[in-house]
Amino acid sequence: MKLGFIGTGKITYSVVTGICSSKIKFSTILVSPRNLSTARKLAKNNRKVKIAKSNDEIVKSCNWIFLAVTPTVGENLIKQLKFKSNQTIISFISTTTLPKLKKLIKVKATIVRAIPLPPISLKKGPVPIYPPNKKVKNFFNKLGTTVEIKNEKLSKNFWSTSGMMAPFYEFLNTMSNWLVKKGVEKRPCTKIYNIFICCTVRGCSCKFKKRFKIFGKRISNS
Ligand SMILES: NC(=O)c1ccc[n+]([C@@H]2O[C@H](COP(=O)([O-])OP(=O)(O)OC[C@H]3O[C@@H](n4cnc5c(N)ncnc54)[C@H](OP(=O)(O)O)[C@@H]3O)[C@@H](O)[C@H]2O)c1
Repeated sequence: MKLGFIGTGKITYSVVTGICSSKIKFSTILVSPRNLSTARKLAKNNRKVKIAKSNDEIVKSCNWIFLAVTPTVGENLIKQLKFKSNQTIISFISTTTLPKLKKLIKVKATIVRAIPLPPISLKKGPVPIYPPNKKVKNFFNKLGTTVEIKNEKLSKNFWSTSGMMAPFYEFLNTMSNWLVKKGVEKRPCTKIYNIFICCTVRGCSCKFKKRFKIFGKRISNS
C-alpha cells in the first residue's frame, strides 16, 4: 500500500511518525514538498518516506491519500486534483464537510473524515472518524483508538473539543513560565509539568476507565 500526504505540516508530521513506528504495512509514504523542512525531516527519519515533486504525483501514484491542509487551501486545491474511484481519501481538514468533499473530489472514491491529534506520533489517543469504515478503523486502531461516528453533526463536537488541546498546552506552558519567573530553573519546571500531566491523566483514566468505555459505545451507536 502506498500512502500519500498532501500538506506536510504539524499533523502530517505526527501521523507519519506514528505510522513509521507502527505495525501498519506500507511500501512508501509520499509527502508533499510543502512544508519542505518538515518533509525533509520525515524523509531523513525513515527511508520509506519520500518527498513528492507535486500534489499531482501523490494523487497519481498513491492508494490512500491524506488531506492535511487548512480549509481554504484545501477547498481550492482538491478541485484541481484528479482522484480515482478506487482510492481512499482521508481528510483531516477541520471544517470541510463530507458533502462538500464529495463535490470537490468528483469521483466516487471512499472518503472519510478523521481527527488525529499530535500524540498519534506515540501511537496514542482517540481518532474519531466519520463515516464509519472498517479499513480506516483498523488502520487508526494501530495508531491509537478509533472512534467511529455515525452522524456528521455529532462529529462536529469532536472538532470543537479536540481544539482544546492548544489552550491546554498553553496552560501548562504558562504555569511553567510562572515558576521560572519565581526563580525556579527552566529544566526542572518542564520536568515537573511532564510528571504532573502524566500522573493527572493516568489517574483520571483509571478512575474513569469504565465511564469512558460506556461513552465510547454510546458514540459508536448514535
Ligand atoms: N494540528 C493538529 O493537531 C490537527 C488535528 C486534526 C486536524 N487538523 C487539521 O489538519 C489540517 C492541517 O493542520 P496542521 O496543523 O498540520 O497545519 P499546518 O501545520 O499549517 O500544515 C498545513 C501545511 O499545508 C501546506 N500547504 C499550503 N498550501 C499547500 C498546497 N497548495 N499544497 C500542499 N501543501 C500546502 C503548508 O505548507 P507551507 O508551510 O509551505 O505553507 C503547511 O505545511 C487543518 O485543516 C487542521 O484543522 C490539525
